[in-house]
Amino acid sequence: PTNQFCDARIGYGDSGCGVSGASSSKILIKGGTVVNAHHQEIADVYVEDGIIVAVRPNIKVGDDITVLDATGKFVMPGGIDPHTHLEMEFMGIDQTIDDFFSGQAAALAGGTTMHIDFVIPVGGSLTAGFEAYEKKAKKSAMDYGFHVAITKWDDTVSKEMEIMVNEKGINSFKFFMAYKGILMVNDELLLEGFKKCKSLGALAMVHAENGDAVFEGQKRMIELGITGPEGHALSRPAVLEGEATARAIRLAAFVNTPLYVVHVMSIDAMEEIAKARKSGQKVIGEPVVSGLVLDDSGLWDTDFVTAAKYVMSPPIRAAGHDKALQAALSRGILQLVGTDHCAFNSTQKSLGIDDFRKIPNGVNGIEERMHLVWDTMVESGQISVSDYVRITSTECARIFNIYPRKGAILAGSDADIIILNPNSSFEISANTHHSRTDTNIYEGRRGKGKVEVTIAGGRIVWVNNELTVTPGSGKYVKMPPFSYLFEGIDKTDAIYLSSLRAPAKRYRSTE
Ligand code: URP
Ligand code: ZN
Ligand code: ZN
Ligand code: ZN
Repeated sequence: PTNQFCDARIGYGDSGCGVSGASSSKILIKGGTVVNAHHQEIADVYVEDGIIVAVRPNIKVGDDITVLDATGKFVMPGGIDPHTHLEMEFMGIDQTIDDFFSGQAAALAGGTTMHIDFVIPVGGSLTAGFEAYEKKAKKSAMDYGFHVAITKWDDTVSKEMEIMVNEKGINSFKFFMAYKGILMVNDELLLEGFKKCKSLGALAMVHAENGDAVFEGQKRMIELGITGPEGHALSRPAVLEGEATARAIRLAAFVNTPLYVVHVMSIDAMEEIAKARKSGQKVIGEPVVSGLVLDDSGLWDTDFVTAAKYVMSPPIRAAGHDKALQAALSRGILQLVGTDHCAFNSTQKSLGIDDFRKIPNGVNGIEERMHLVWDTMVESGQISVSDYVRITSTECARIFNIYPRKGAILAGSDADIIILNPNSSFEISANTHHSRTDTNIYEGRRGKGKVEVTIAGGRIVWVNNELTVTPGSGKYVKMPPFSYLFEGIDKTDAIYLSSLRAPAKRYRSTE
């Protein structure tokens, strides 16, 4: 325990900050409505040593047990955030403002009990990158997994992908189609990467924007003298997100491998995903909270600090895209919600005060996701409570092949549980949030539905608006390859090959 963890708003589990943990290895949650993605019932949930032992009405226990009354409240699987960037070096900034401890503390205060972060290779090496992230994550207060980014291609990278999947618990790789000169890959690399992913049973993920066109758009803005944060949105319009999404989808179809499109921010990208899914292609679309609940108006704020906090890529779009993404989520065109939590404080953002191209890209959200999705989607009547569980937790667990250990309130599942009171309300402010950043893109926002209790790995970490978290208590969750998305791929490959057999014979016979 070092002083850097003694944040006034974060009680420290193993002493030091004067807040003792309300933790007990045995917990009974009584009388709540237990919600899973496919079923809900009024029942008790009994937890022992970090695992859910029983889920049924009227569980009787002795008195050495912590009892939580959940009458009139929802008992649901803790949120799983599929998309975060904690402690990442990015765009000339040494690291994002939230490390694995502060980012996870924020997550837990908002009802998220697991996240999947992105390993960025070090000096082109996946192994070195993985080891660096292993080290950063040692102070974890909740469970976490990793995706690994692929930023170049050679035999070493290809071999390292095998090691990641077969030995390190990785089952997904991310390809950036933007950030020219830093992370961006070309179509040749995408094809090699997709083929390798397919052979390993790993899911290919894309940041879909046409990076060459974005580069051109940025030059255009600078030439016009538009250097402020609004130039960020103007330089990379939705058409460039639609183009890259369509291209990635078609290349994944050509390789016949599943595809996961991260941070779907526009109607343009969403419609490409809808079309592909309608044709039977296995494409997952992940909207993020900022794209679902905000529009781009903040980027035009005359105060630089205010405008710059909204800068992320792809950009938050004009009003209309948000509502369309919500509708797509409610209809199953998009399947789960992430945050892309990648927080920078005002000082870090001010690197781009004279040039929007230098504003580090990223917004907060890891603490706000569960509340904002509840308020925007459930409270508004767009989705059911079961759907809420599916899009905030269960579907993520299924896609990354850790269901039902995660994403469910079932006997045998990890005790990652939240109690949400639908009649209580929340209010968001940088003055009260748990992230280290000094701004919040949802500043002042209020809504209905409040996460009153968070249990992570069987520990009560959030109750009565008090957070008690312990660095080192979170575990790395290995994710096995060949999720449900890979079912049937061998069959469609066989059909394709047999369709080629006739012409192949003809060519051989004429030799
Ligand atoms: O602006 C963003 N999204 N920053 C994080 C990196 C990424 O593209 O996901
Ligand atoms: Zn301390
Ligand atoms: Zn991205
Ligand atoms: Zn991201």
